[in-house]
Amino acid sequence: MSNIKFFSNEEIPLEMHKVRIVQKLSLKPIERRLEAINEAGNNTFLLKNKDIFLDMLTDSGVNAMSDRQQAAMLIADDSYAGSETFTRLENKIKEIFNMEFFLPAHQGRACENIISKVLVKEGQIVPMNYHFTTTKSHITVNGGTVEEIFTDEALKINSTNPFKGNIDTDKLKSLIAKHGTEKIAFVRLEAGTNLIGGQPFSLKNLIEVSRICKDNNIILILDASLLSDNLYFIKSREEEFKNLSIREITLKIASLCDVIYFSARKLGCVRGGGICTNNSALFERMKEILPLYEGFLTYGGMSVREMEALTVGLDETMDEDMINQGPIFIEYMVNELSKKGIPVVTPAGGLGCHIDAMRFLSHIPQTQYPAGALAAALYIVSGVRGMERGTLSEQRNPDGSEVLSNMELLRLALPRRVFTLSQVKYAIDRIQWLFENRELVEGLTFVDEPKILRFFFGKLKPVSPWQERLTEKFRKDFWDSL
Ligand code: F0G
Repeated sequence: MSNIKFFSNEEIPLEMHKVRIVQKLSLKPIERRLEAINEAGNNTFLLKNKDIFLDMLTDSGVNAMSDRQQAAMLIADDSYAGSETFTRLENKIKEIFNMEFFLPAHQGRACENIISKVLVKEGQIVPMNYHFTTTKSHITVNGGTVEEIFTDEALKINSTNPFKGNIDTDKLKSLIAKHGTEKIAFVRLEAGTNLIGGQPFSLKNLIEVSRICKDNNIILILDASLLSDNLYFIKSREEEFKNLSIREITLKIASLCDVIYFSARKLGCVRGGGICTNNSALFERMKEILPLYEGFLTYGGMSVREMEALTVGLDETMDEDMINQGPIFIEYMVNELSKKGIPVVTPAGGLGCHIDAMRFLSHIPQTQYPAGALAAALYIVSGVRGMERGTLSEQRNPDGSEVLSNMELLRLALPRRVFTLSQVKYAIDRIQWLFENRELVEGLTFVDEPKILRFFFGKLKPVSPWQERLTEKFRKDFWDSL
């Protein structure tokens, strides 16, 4: 799709699919949205779908399925043990990753639970390019510590580096030299590093990381939840590998890792997850605990229908026209916002467009959650639901002080094949209006703060009646519009 040029020279993404099932949306008036965000305690996780226009909370479990995926669900083979559906999925995993053993699980964090239970011992460390919330929790619960060894580029909001998700291999070598291999449970590489803006790693970096791990007998684990975006970025940004097909890149990646796990809520566009490996001893150890937490070995907590759809979804992930849809829509959104002077993470990554709330709302201190305030404000002025990825998503220190996040981001996820370009344009338009009126936005403070996972369930209130003032200004400017 990227090499189709418009006669007008306009540069816009072009969908290589057509819409055959639709869901009606409604856009409630701003007055209702103001009420709704207050009912939700200013936490976008607690909003009800009926009050939302464009749901950009996440790409997890909400990607559009293809006609082939839906059709495959009808031929699912229902049985507790030994279903044909599982065999088809297992064979697809072998074909795509060339990995012999596959354990199904109900979602990505379930894989993290099994892997951490088997591999992490008290006092061990797990080096990685960047943590994901659930990953860190599972490692910590089992007595381990996460060591982030990202490169100097990773945390720069604006950069031209195409692979901000790379591991700094010098840091990896010094960690090994400092602690010795015994202390390292495994090395984890996350495709499309979620929390720093969906930024990919390069194949060159993986080759180097894998070599270091092999030389030191350390297990290398790939979190492939966001692999589809990362595959597209390798193909389109890494000159050295541009002649490899997506299948060849995938096989190459898999050959460099000992274990691959994924959330199929993202990879494969269904709901589920799985762990793949060629290491039979490790497989046997993980296999033992699977029935305890997930289900029997041939379904692992997934419905057979989802497994059939996953088999097709993984196959479709090998199609460049399919996997580039997300990244090129995101790139469009990032470029348009940048042109208007709105601070966003660059280069555009996968998963979604990330707005830099630290600069957007530079007058709000981190202790008043600028990214959370931006999420609430954007919902009020547009009905668009995003996700706070900043201090609010951190957990307080044992002494009660805040852990100030490295970045304050508002993530606007673009689930794959879900939104049209005019919907993306609407979101851009309302973000621009909000940027012009940003001085009206102020911070948030907790009224109900759970000790763990506060970003999921916590309730907050505005520090002043700024939301009413924002609504009034919106009404003045958009007197006859929703
Ligand atoms: N790893 C990565 C990189 C993820 O992005 C996620 C989920 C998981 C693991 C856990 O998978 O949700 O199936 O248990 N990310 C979702 C998100 C929640 O909204 O970004 P899960």
